[in-house]
This record gives sequence, C-alpha cells and structure tokens, in this order.
Amino acid sequence: MPATVHASPSYQNLEQLEQLAKGRLSDMAFQYIVGGAEDEVTLRANRAAYHDYRFMPRVLRDVSDVRLGTTALGTKIAFPAIVAPTGFHQLCHPEGEVATAQGASDGGTIFTASTIANCSLEDIAKGSEGPKWFQLYVFRDRSVTESLVKRAKKAGYKALVLTVDLPVHGRRERDMRTGFHLPKGLTMGNFPAGPLASRSGGDSSLKTFVAEQFDPSVTWEDVKWLRKVSGLPVVVKGVLHPEDAALAVQHGVDGLVVSNHGGRQLDHTVATLDALPAVVDAVDGKCEVFLDGGVRRGTDVLKAVALGARAVLVGRPVLWGLSLGGRRGVAGVLDHLRNEVRTSLQILGAPGIDELDMSYLVPQPSGKP
Ligand SMILES: Cc1cc2nc3c(=O)[nH]c(=O)nc-3n(C[C@H](O)[C@H](O)[C@H](O)COP(=O)(O)O)c2cc1C
Repeated sequence: MPATVHASPSYQNLEQLEQLAKGRLSDMAFQYIVGGAEDEVTLRANRAAYHDYRFMPRVLRDVSDVRLGTTALGTKIAFPAIVAPTGFHQLCHPEGEVATAQGASDGGTIFTASTIANCSLEDIAKGSEGPKWFQLYVFRDRSVTESLVKRAKKAGYKALVLTVDLPVHGRRERDMRTGFHLPKGLTMGNFPAGPLASRSGGDSSLKTFVAEQFDPSVTWEDVKWLRKVSGLPVVVKGVLHPEDAALAVQHGVDGLVVSNHGGRQLDHTVATLDALPAVVDAVDGKCEVFLDGGVRRGTDVLKAVALGARAVLVGRPVLWGLSLGGRRGVAGVLDHLRNEVRTSLQILGAPGIDELDMSYLVPQPSGKP
C-alpha cells in the first residue's frame, strides 16, 4: 500500500479545490472541465442523488483499524476509488497524464488513460509504475482502434475501458461560448504523427474531431471483437439501463461503469447513483460494477459501495488537483478522499468497506433538506 501523501492544507473539501483550481486555469480550460451538456441538469443531478440516502450507523464496534482496501478486476487499490479517464491533462499541468498517473500510483490506485490524452500511452506507462487501464473510443477506421489496443497491451495496461456513451459529442454550451480548442503546442499524444495529430493540434474543435473520427455505429458485436483482438479484460463505461447491463454480462464483459459521462453527453439523463441499484440487480454478481459522476465526498463513496458498486471513478477533482500541484496535487486529492472515507466508515461503525450494504442506508424522500 502507498505511503501517505499529505493533503494540501489549503482546502478542506473537494468543492473548495475547484475554486482554487479556477484561479490557476485559463477560462477556456476551466469551462471545458467543469461543464456539462445543455442546461447541466444531469451534472447537478449526479451530485444531488447523494442527498437521497442517509446513513443508519452502528455503534460499539471496534473501528480502530477499518479496512479500506479492495480490488478492481483483481488489482489491489488502497480504497474504492479509481482515476476516471479524462482528456487533455496538459491543459492543467505541463507534465500532463504522466503526472496524473504518478499521483494515482502514490495514492494507491488505478489510473485510466484516455484515448485523447496529451501524453502518449507509452510515455504514461514509462512514467509511472502504478496499475493502469486504457480508455478506448472506437474509430471509424478500425485499424486505428486495433493499433491502440495492441499498443496498450504491449505497454502493460491491465484492462480496456470502452466508452459507449459518446456516439456523437454532447452539446456543451460552455465550450461553444469559449470556442474550446487545444492550445498551440498541445497534441493528442497517442497520434504523434499523421492526420489525426494534425487535426487535433490546430484550430479544429473537439466536436469536429469526434464527428470525423469516432464511429457512431458501434454495437455489442464490437465488444466481442474487442475482447478477441485485445485479450485484455474489457470494462464498458457509460451504462445506465439494466437491460444494457444484462447485455454487457451476456457479451462477457469483466466490468461496467454506471456513468453518464459526468453529465457531459445527454442532459436530463438519470443520475448515476439512481441508476446503480437496478444495474447491480441485473448483473447479479457476474461482473464488477463501478460508478462515476459527482463523487466529491468520502460519504459519496460509502453510499455507492453500499448500493453495490465495487469502486467509484473520480474525474474532475483529480484535474483540479493536477492543476494545483501536478503529481503531488493528484496524490493529495486521493489522500484527502481516502481520509474522508476512513473517518466516515469509522463513525458509521463498519469495520471494513467490504461490509457495507443497504442496511447502513435509509432512502430519503427527495426534496427533504
Ligand atoms: C474534462 C473531462 C474530460 C473527459 N474525457 C473523457 C474521456 O476522454 N473519455 C471518457 O471515457 N470519459 C471522459 N470524461 C468523463 C469521465 O471519465 C467521467 O465519466 C466523469 O468525469 C465523472 O464525473 P466527475 O467528473 O463528476 O467525477 C471526461 C470528463 C471530464 C470532466
């Protein structure tokens, strides 16, 4: 398990961290990271859903040494949180994804590298010894996808995370307003030469890139294909409907992420915490279920785990940490969240994260403060 990395003394919670990061980033970068689709109803709903459960603590149990560790697809992690795939980390820090991966490793967890990282998947792998997953978008040109998959396997990534909730780019109005683009000098590191890199490094928008390159015709057949060509465990990210969860199991996936892309794709989508219980039921233990979207507190992690998530993925807060302090900033965010998880678990009276279940929660009628 990792050495403890001290959380930055300058914030008490991850919401404050966002405000600190805002002061460090260009307006364009901040709006790109913080924003969601259209009216951002889903973005807010992801957070609000955590208010719909209260804890029912137990007392007089020995909680002097609570167990926080778990595994994700067989990899040990210090507590049930994994770094979510997010694009373009050099918007936040010159060392980009290499620093984030190092910080994740210091924080004792898995780093998920995005297809649209600024650093190449090989540089990320060389730069950090910690466990890593590779997030994949399927390109119209399947040979691009296949080559990415093979490179990820060769570089030692332990799993593929296939993102399925972005057949087309969501309507992100903040990015329309700022004219979001990759600043000069930044490229997509996984495509260092050739047409993809030059399309992405200049003035073309991310939306155009997605429309030109990503394949909206992907189906479950492609999941089978991916398992075959990669030989790696496959996690499908972006499932909300229980019938899709059942299909994922039928197609032999190793895990799925209940996700709405952090509220960045279809607005008015169900909040992920609200979708979780039916997905867990449908999967019936046949693959691991993860969740992301709006996790900002240790208590959020406990609620997701109690409802059946193996672990959560954390997106934006990691980027705020990266903006403020590179590798140390990322490790600090994870350390902070882990400390919140530990304190809350102790007061909840649960000796281990693995013991959490619905008996620790009371559903709260919506609208109650
Ligand atoms: C700036 C940003 C970039 C993202 N890029 C990707 C990506 O490249 N691939 C992907 O699967 N998801 C991407 N996501 C979605 C995240 O993986 C994750 O689903 C979401 O951020 C979780 O919500 P949270 O930020 O509230 O923790 C991105 C999210 C953000 C905020």
